[in-house]
Amino acid sequence: MKTQFGPQRILFPMPVSLVVTGTMEQANIVTIAWVSLLTSKPPTLGISVGTRGFSGKEILKNGHFTVNIASADIMVEADFCGINSGRDVDKFKETGFTKLPSKHVESPIIKECPLNIECKLTGSSIVGQTNHFIGEILEVHMDNDKLREPDNPGTYIAEAMNPLIYMGGAREYRKLGNKIGDAYSVGKNLKDKKFS
Ligand SMILES: Cc1cc2nc3c(=O)[nH]c(=O)nc-3n(C[C@H](O)[C@H](O)[C@H](O)COP(=O)(O)O)c2cc1C
Repeated sequence: MKTQFGPQRILFPMPVSLVVTGTMEQANIVTIAWVSLLTSKPPTLGISVGTRGFSGKEILKNGHFTVNIASADIMVEADFCGINSGRDVDKFKETGFTKLPSKHVESPIIKECPLNIECKLTGSSIVGQTNHFIGEILEVHMDNDKLREPDNPGTYIAEAMNPLIYMGGAREYRKLGNKIGDAYSVGKNLKDKKFS
């Protein structure tokens, strides 16, 4: 049995990102859970930003932004950035987050986030009251101490990254559980079982 809630109640688990707009001198942070990788060639992601907020206008003005993956350790600060507007408060000052210069874009990255992605705006499209920004990924930064092997991005330690998860619909934050399998691999057992 399943219960139908209709399209207005969107239940969806999502990692929490902190999107930084503006420049080193004047930067803003907005909490965005609606983030998705779109394609790998060219490396591209999409973010959904409300048309009424401060950040959407900043992205359109500057043509770049950074996506910083929040860890569970900074849950309170991440929530703060999602319930206050850059029109009213300096979110870097209030959270105590540290700005680090990006390599290719003017918007800074957040030191306290384990993973940071620099993006150049390559497109946008409004659906309802949300602007869908398409960003070409120009650089990815990862904390050294969260990599098992330096220079090998595939060896990041999930427990050390400790991503903050937002349960859309339930409006609660969660942490990751333990590893339970290898992707692109565990499914092979089913195939073997089914067709042998
Ligand atoms: C957990 C969480 C997730 C959020 N996800 C989004 C999102 O995906 N898109 C969006 O436009 N706003 C999202 N928000 C709301 C914005 O962060 C919020 O409106 C913010 O105050 C806008 O700030 P700004 O005016 O400085 O841009 C989220 C808020 C929280 C707490």
